[in-house]
Amino acid sequence: MTEKDFLPSACEELPLSGKVTWKVPSNIALVKYWGKRADQIPANPSISFTLDASATTTSLSYEKSELGSSKFSFELFFEGKSKEDFKPKIQTFFERVEKYLPFLKSYHFKIETSNSFPHSSGIASSASGMAALSLCLMDIEKKMNPTMDAIFFKRKASFLARLGSGSASRSIEGDLIQWGRHYSINESSDLYGIQYPYKVDSVFKNFHDTILLVHKGQKKVSSSVGHNLMHDHPYAERRFAQAHENLDKLKTIFEEGNLNRFIDIVESEALTLHAMMMTSMPYFILMKPDTLEIINKIWEYRALTKVPVCFTLDAGANVHVLYPESVKEKVIQFIQDELVVHCEKGHYICDRIGNGAKKLY
Ligand code: PMV
Repeated sequence: MTEKDFLPSACEELPLSGKVTWKVPSNIALVKYWGKRADQIPANPSISFTLDASATTTSLSYEKSELGSSKFSFELFFEGKSKEDFKPKIQTFFERVEKYLPFLKSYHFKIETSNSFPHSSGIASSASGMAALSLCLMDIEKKMNPTMDAIFFKRKASFLARLGSGSASRSIEGDLIQWGRHYSINESSDLYGIQYPYKVDSVFKNFHDTILLVHKGQKKVSSSVGHNLMHDHPYAERRFAQAHENLDKLKTIFEEGNLNRFIDIVESEALTLHAMMMTSMPYFILMKPDTLEIINKIWEYRALTKVPVCFTLDAGANVHVLYPESVKEKVIQFIQDELVVHCEKGHYICDRIGNGAKKLY
């Protein structure tokens, strides 16, 4: 599909008013997206586990304005309170998607959003938040075009979400989502995420992700600044090629259920992401001393016990501890005994691989 396929057909009758609510999970990338071109086109393909517990719930109330307007009209409430500082992001998002949702200026919107994870936990809500808003908007489009099929609905939601935040394109469905054109994945696209189309061994079906909250404060460098620093980055081209290679390697790893090789790829991806940050100009470090303590303890524990537990990182100091269902008790015990001391106020979130977005009302 191309961008043109997401342009709506002639405007049908607009609903007068309504309200819709979606609950949308976050996701954690195994092969990382870091670097983009114009229009939120990723510099390399990525793949992620959709999460379950870490989610954003967004309600969108809409009321048709009599006259129509030359501006977008919306109010935004985060956890019950009006949130002016989130508005510019929504404004930019509306500007980017207006072409694909031409009814936007015909409505006044009230957006009410909240996260299941604590505010300022260092977990980015842009993926789940932008995906939730996109699904709510698609619901309005579906009212105008009730025959729209479920595949197109999700695909366009992912396409719109991408224009809000790249990784949001991977938060619509579960449980393993690939985004970005890859030569050996036929259906793959730079425009939206797809469910991973090849065989995945059952060992990857019930994976757990315990998120250790090492540093809950605001990140010093935002993802958008980080992505931009991949332009003129000395290692960019090699890194983008490596992401393609890692997706190739994962194909057999998923098929065979090879946990040791999975661990090699996932940990290398996490450290490569941070290596790109450390080698950009200006350079920066988002890991904290406790991030490194945790990584070292995971390596020691794995060497000693042969329990297949590994880590990944997103663009921050928190550590995602990944492990299969079969070793859950052992790993939780290890986390409590050894890793919790490195978490801010001892906080961590027990999450697992999930099935994607749900419409609540
Ligand atoms: O979606 P963005 O622009 O916030 O970028 C997310 C980038 C990483 O989380 C670091 C990696 C990824 O693929 O999710």
